[in-house]
Order: sequence, then structure tokens, then C-alpha cells
Amino acid sequence: MREFPPNRIGVFDSGIGGLTVLRELYRQLPKESIIYCADSARLPYGNRSPEEILQFVREILTWMNIEGVKMIVMACNTSSALALDTVRSEFSLPILGLILPGARAAVRAGKRIGVIATPATAASNAYRQAIQEIDATAKVWQVGCPQFVPLIEQNRIHDPYTLDVARQYLEPLLEQKIDTLVYGCTHYRHLSTVLQKILPTSIEIIDPAQYVVAAAEQELELMGLKNNSTSLPTRFCVTGSSEKFAQLSRQWLGCTPVVEKVSLQVSSTIKMTLESRE
Ligand code: DGL
Repeated sequence: MREFPPNRIGVFDSGIGGLTVLRELYRQLPKESIIYCADSARLPYGNRSPEEILQFVREILTWMNIEGVKMIVMACNTSSALALDTVRSEFSLPILGLILPGARAAVRAGKRIGVIATPATAASNAYRQAIQEIDATAKVWQVGCPQFVPLIEQNRIHDPYTLDVARQYLEPLLEQKIDTLVYGCTHYRHLSTVLQKILPTSIEIIDPAQYVVAAAEQELELMGLKNNSTSLPTRFCVTGSSEKFAQLSRQWLGCTPVVEKVSLQVSSTIKMTLESRE
């Protein structure tokens, strides 16, 4: 169902993590209409290889392009770390990722920066590189947290086991006396009540979601793409179970969303037609 002219912002994640970005979009850009895609059939992305992540991102962007979007906001750090640079040169849409806005905010906040992220994001070194390109004197420690996304997606946030796991992941960062902590995965904001039990209040928390949306606003202004009329209801699309996503996202959205199950496999005829238009 391609909307014309394309007026929605495409937002995607592997699951419910991107809802933290979606909520920021609602807060900062209430007039924008959004299509949210969760590739829940293939989560977690954070344990996948760089090649798989790039492939998944290409499929999502191709699908979103066909649905008709004016801009893409990657609401997934893993995709931003592993695929942003490549897909930016392959698609003619503005595409925003979380790493640079997050790194800029971290550098403004402190000098001893801890990053909690998926194993793939931590291994990519994307945050360290981005932070030290802005401030070569900043110290950066990145910790891969493989259990967080599965625990959040299983709705086990308040399980005492999750608090234990969080203590283990944060311990090496607290030992380094970090002054700033970056949520290097969009799912982790959902854990903030748990993390705040462990973190001293002196540590500044950076949620890149806030800053990627500010960057999206600037880009929309610059390109004359900002919507000035009222927004359409968000379209929620998932590759896994629509019931599960609707039920799980309710607590973060404040209502039960209508969720469509979609297939990202685009027929080669549609793909060729689209490519010839670009
Ligand atoms: N929420 C995503 C991120 O920011 C992906 C997490 C996952 O699927 O492992 O990295």
C-alpha cells in the first residue's frame, strides 16, 4: 500500500527497542506520520554477523521504500553501527543512525564514557571511534550485554535475575569510574528503572534516541520535508507475531497498537521497477 506523496518517516528495529525512539518522535515531532517496522522474526540482531545485519537492513529499507517513506530513522544501534555507511550509498533517501548523535551528546556530557550495547555493536567499536573522532582525549569503555535484549523481549525486566545480570555488565564500567553512560542499544531505555538501582546518580545517562530525533528534525527542515498538518496514526508492521508485539508494546505506548504482519521478501519485479525509478 504505497502512499503518495511519501510523507511518513520509516523507523525500524529488531523489536520493541525502537519504541524508545518512536516515543521521542511523538514528543519532539508530533505532526510527523510514522511507519514502524520490527523485524521480530529475526531478533536479536546483536548476536548476528555483520553480513547478516547488512542483509536485514537492506531488506527493510527496500521494503520501506516501496511502502513510500520520505526519511528513515534507524532505531537500532546495531544496524547503525554495522550497516549505515553502506546503505547510505545504496538508497537515495535520507537515512539517520544513532551512533553520531549519541557520541556527540556523550562528549558534551563527560570524559570517561561507558557504553552498554549489543555484542555486535560493542565489537564494531563504532561508539569508541565516533566519540574519539570528536574528542581524542575521551576515554571509552564498551560492554556487550548479550542477555539484555532477550530479557526485555521476554518481558522479564522486573525479574530479580535481570538485576543480577545488569550488575555484572555494569561492574567493569563502575570500576573505571565512568562519568557518563550511553545506552548503546535502543532496548536499554526500557531497563532504566533497573539500571538506576545500580548506577550512582552522579553518572550522566545518554539516550541517543533523544538526539537522533533532534537530528531528524534539522534534516527535515533543511530538506523542506517537515509535515505541518496533523499526523496519521502510526502503522506498526512486524515480521514475527503481531499479537506478541501488540501485547508487549502496550506498556510502552499506553495503548494496544493495531499491528500488521508483513513479509520483507520483495518480489524481484517490484524491486526492479523501483530501482529504475531512482
Ligand atoms: N535495539 C537494537 C539496538 O539498538 C537491536 C537489539 C537486538 O536485536 O539485539 O541495537
